[in-house]
Amino acid sequence: MTDTLGSMRRSHHCNELSIADEGAEVVLMGWAQRRRDHGGVIFIDLRDRQGITQVVFNPERDARVHEKAHAIRNEYVLAVRGVVEKRPGGMENPALVTGAIEVMVSELKILNRAETPPFMIEDDIEVNENTRLQHRHIDLRRSSLQRNIMMRSRAAAAARRYLDEQGFLDIETPCLTRSTPEGARDFLVPSRLAPGSFYALPQSPQLFKQLLMISGFEKYYQIVRCFRDEDLRADRQPEFTQIDMEMSFVGEQDVMAVSEGLIVEIFKAVLDLEVKAPFDRMTYQEAMDRYGLDRPDTRFGLELCDISDIVADSGFKVFSDAVGKGGIVKALNAKGCAERFTRKEIDDFTDFVAVYRAKGLAWIRVKEDEWQSPITKFFSEEEKKKMAERLDMQPGDLVFFGADKSSIVNEALGHLRIELAKKLGLIDDSIYRFVWITDFPMLEYDETEKRYQALHHPFTSPAEEDMDKLEKDPLSVRSRAYDLVLNGIEIGGGSIRIHQKELQIKVLEALGMSREEYEEKFGFLISALESGAPPHGGIAFGFDRLMAILCGSSSIREVIAFPKTQKGACLMTAAPGPAYRAQLEELGLKAGPVK
Ligand code: AMO
Ligand code: AMP
Repeated sequence: MTDTLGSMRRSHHCNELSIADEGAEVVLMGWAQRRRDHGGVIFIDLRDRQGITQVVFNPERDARVHEKAHAIRNEYVLAVRGVVEKRPGGMENPALVTGAIEVMVSELKILNRAETPPFMIEDDIEVNENTRLQHRHIDLRRSSLQRNIMMRSRAAAAARRYLDEQGFLDIETPCLTRSTPEGARDFLVPSRLAPGSFYALPQSPQLFKQLLMISGFEKYYQIVRCFRDEDLRADRQPEFTQIDMEMSFVGEQDVMAVSEGLIVEIFKAVLDLEVKAPFDRMTYQEAMDRYGLDRPDTRFGLELCDISDIVADSGFKVFSDAVGKGGIVKALNAKGCAERFTRKEIDDFTDFVAVYRAKGLAWIRVKEDEWQSPITKFFSEEEKKKMAERLDMQPGDLVFFGADKSSIVNEALGHLRIELAKKLGLIDDSIYRFVWITDFPMLEYDETEKRYQALHHPFTSPAEEDMDKLEKDPLSVRSRAYDLVLNGIEIGGGSIRIHQKELQIKVLEALGMSREEYEEKFGFLISALESGAPPHGGIAFGFDRLMAILCGSSSIREVIAFPKTQKGACLMTAAPGPAYRAQLEELGLKAGPVK
């Protein structure tokens, strides 16, 4: 049989050759990135996943091969044989690793032709993301995406290496399963063999990894796909990847230490950067007080400050009413920004916080001799003095205020803080600031569903000290959960679990579940807890989010080979799509549009 490649076999990749190879005969293979015709001499930038080498077809050196090169178009797949030559003086390209040399071609094989691509295979091109996603196989040829995907592979390899060295076992868990609640909707898969019944795709392997601890495996990890039907954002995908871990006979400190080791390894492998561990720790309460969010970006100050006590009885009804109703008033001092923003821009900030349900955004411009603001007149001298002191108000400052329920004020000002920092250039993109958030509340009250919900998941252990409050004062119970936050993004979360049946039932009941309901949903877990469950805990890292930070990408779509759009569609395969009538009948389903 003949071989497409003939006698040609790659000797080097396209980012490898240098002056040291001058005179060597080499064979390169790759894609024609760009073709230039200079007075009869044809130059091709030959690209493979490593980089680019300039290959040259010179009619004076080899007329036949030059003639053949006329057929080459962008993205043609080529094999070339030739000799490495030093580029003529002045023709070097310092932007290329191989920029000092070129390959003078003596043999060309066009391995395949290509249609003109829908967009240039270059970075910094203005192409609509949907067009890119529709032709993702071509988009992925761009060097930034090649780099991201290769970095991702290196990170995964480092994670596996590290966890293997630490004695973790890589164990797979099912994708066709029962609901594994993590607070999102399930994706359901209908069963053909049991019509009317459904599998759920796992929102995480949470229950399986706990069962593996009960089975005695002691240390588990998996780089695993999770499925969550939720509203998508730049850092959320309906299917995403976790580096998932679970350990037996451990407390919080042990899980955190292994996690820090893992992060250090990944940063070393991917960025050749020494990250300093242990990471900072902060309680949930402190994070909310100072930053308004449970995933604080601690790369800059601009902290929030509570002034509820000062303005509780003030003449400004918006403030005193908020405090009177059990809410809070918080402020944010943008130092030196009094003249930085126009009235129009300040109004835009009001619109910005409205997204977080804030009803307004009061502000004060501190001048040399007065406070310029529509609200100053409502405050007594005493109140002003105290405010100035607590907020360190100096001439030239611009102070923003939020008054409402604490959840609204914190969210609105927490996001405003980040928005201001972006506008003021306070964020140093070259630093990585890690912080563990601990002591989360166990439960939150869901206003729409009128019941308690687990802030983490229902298998998280309450803090020992707070156990007795579970029935009387559930909202004050703290959990043994921890999140790892990097530059304001939650990259991982986990907890020490409940390993005793009685406590697990108590927590499920606190969540408003009837015995029938929990027996039906989690009967298997509850009976497993009776079979000798060791104390255990773990964590899962959002691998896509971590990679987006490592790659400096603003969206996790840039670090996933085949991501979905904000609407959950795969534009390349046109999924999701309609099903065939016969398929639906087999599944015992009736549905909308069918083929
Ligand atoms: P959690 O739900 O916090 O915990 O998820 C762990 C981490 O996964 C990432 N993440 C996501 N990334 C992309 N798209 C999404 N839709 C998405 N949702 C979550 C986040 C998050 O920190 N079973 C528990 C872990 C445990 O308790 O051990 C769990 O899944 O970075
Ligand atoms: P008003 O009394 O509605 O004219 O508001 C006076 C100022 O207070 C305006 O700058 C509003 O944006 C601001 N304001 C109104 N409601 C709130 C609120 N809940 N929190 C903070 N500022 C508010």
